[in-house]
Amino acid sequence: MDLYEYQARDLFAAHDVPVLPGKTVETAEEAKAAAAEIGTAVVVKAQVKVGGRGKAGGVKLASTPDEAAEKATDILGLDIKGHIVHRVLVAQASDIAEEYYFSFLLDRSNRTFLAMASAEGGVEIEQLAVERPDALARIPIDAIAGVDRAKAAEIVAAAKYPAVVAEEAADVIVKLWETFVSEDATLVEVNPLVRDPQDRVIALDGKVTLDENAGFRHPEHAALVDERAENPLEAKAKAKGLNYVKLDDGQVGIIGNGAGLVMSTLDVVAYAGEKHGGVKPANFLDIGGGASAQVMADGLDVILGDPDVKSVFVNVFGGITACDAVANGIVEALGILGDAATKPLVVRLDGNNVVEGRKILDDANHPLVTQVDTMDNAADKAAELAAAGA
Ligand SMILES: Nc1ncnc2c1ncn2[C@@H]1O[C@H](COP(=O)(O)OP(=O)(O)O)[C@@H](O)[C@H]1O
Ligand SMILES: [Mg+2]
Repeated sequence: MDLYEYQARDLFAAHDVPVLPGKTVETAEEAKAAAAEIGTAVVVKAQVKVGGRGKAGGVKLASTPDEAAEKATDILGLDIKGHIVHRVLVAQASDIAEEYYFSFLLDRSNRTFLAMASAEGGVEIEQLAVERPDALARIPIDAIAGVDRAKAAEIVAAAKYPAVVAEEAADVIVKLWETFVSEDATLVEVNPLVRDPQDRVIALDGKVTLDENAGFRHPEHAALVDERAENPLEAKAKAKGLNYVKLDDGQVGIIGNGAGLVMSTLDVVAYAGEKHGGVKPANFLDIGGGASAQVMADGLDVILGDPDVKSVFVNVFGGITACDAVANGIVEALGILGDAATKPLVVRLDGNNVVEGRKILDDANHPLVTQVDTMDNAADKAAELAAAGA
């Protein structure tokens, strides 16, 4: 889960990383009050989960509370790379002597943690990495040894941060590591980390990604989820423990069991769809190993809730959960959903107890269900029905 800057800033503050006073608000009036409370020049900053806000006009300086209200009016509602601004952070403005880059991240390809640091911050780091790779130090971090003062000093030296801030920067880096570890983050990025004219080191921007797999250790992280930004169907699926993913520009809803089967189902539907005016998968849901009636009902409920869906392809390979159990699940699910089920379902069953499974569906003779024996033909039928229903 990616956090907003203000949430990252709160985590930093909780771990004693130096940040500036600030307040998150949703209206120009509140921005004015926040600026008055801070009592200095402020920066009004768009809170969207995308970088490059400064260049996009989402970060603006204001010297008075009235000006803060004006800037907030400009920024609220702005579309930054497809993200609409609903909130702004009003933060104390800092005098900046120099801007640096710093991050800790999980380096999956090298199976280690990594510190990345550069004395040339503020700019887009991807650009720096390509144009001047020498200016970006990369220091692997041993997961067991972690980052103590000595390691932090090594990072500061490799980054070529100037001597005047070496001590303080090392201090901040140790605290950022504490943040990274104790919050179970996979990314902690500060760009820019600045030196002010008094040679203080301050985190002026923050990007944090939390590891959701460690969520059970952090009940407090649940409060960081932004319901407004979350797709409501994804939220519903998550609440039911289902793996649901929404796709762009598609019409066929896909339910399968097992990630591999679901992925290949996406491919065959996209391929079959070419013959039917470019029909594509609208979403997919992996019901996993246990396809009980309730799981199937929950899955169908989510898939049918997507207004883009014109037909549904249920592709199941019976294993430990045999085809007859899945077929019973589908029949019961349609019973549970009743009138809520309105779109045609193409079902392809194969594997364990396939004969029994197909018979159950034949006997149920539900008007929305069509059985097709092979995956390719079933994909073709689902695409055809989606094209007809579009
Ligand atoms: N509190 C602040 N005081 C002064 N300048 C700031 C402040 N916050 C950000 N800036 C300036 O705005 C630039 C962009 O802000 P930043 O928070 O890094 O957003 P983004 O990375 O999305 O563009 C920073 O590089 C810095 O120069
Ligand atoms: Mg930044």
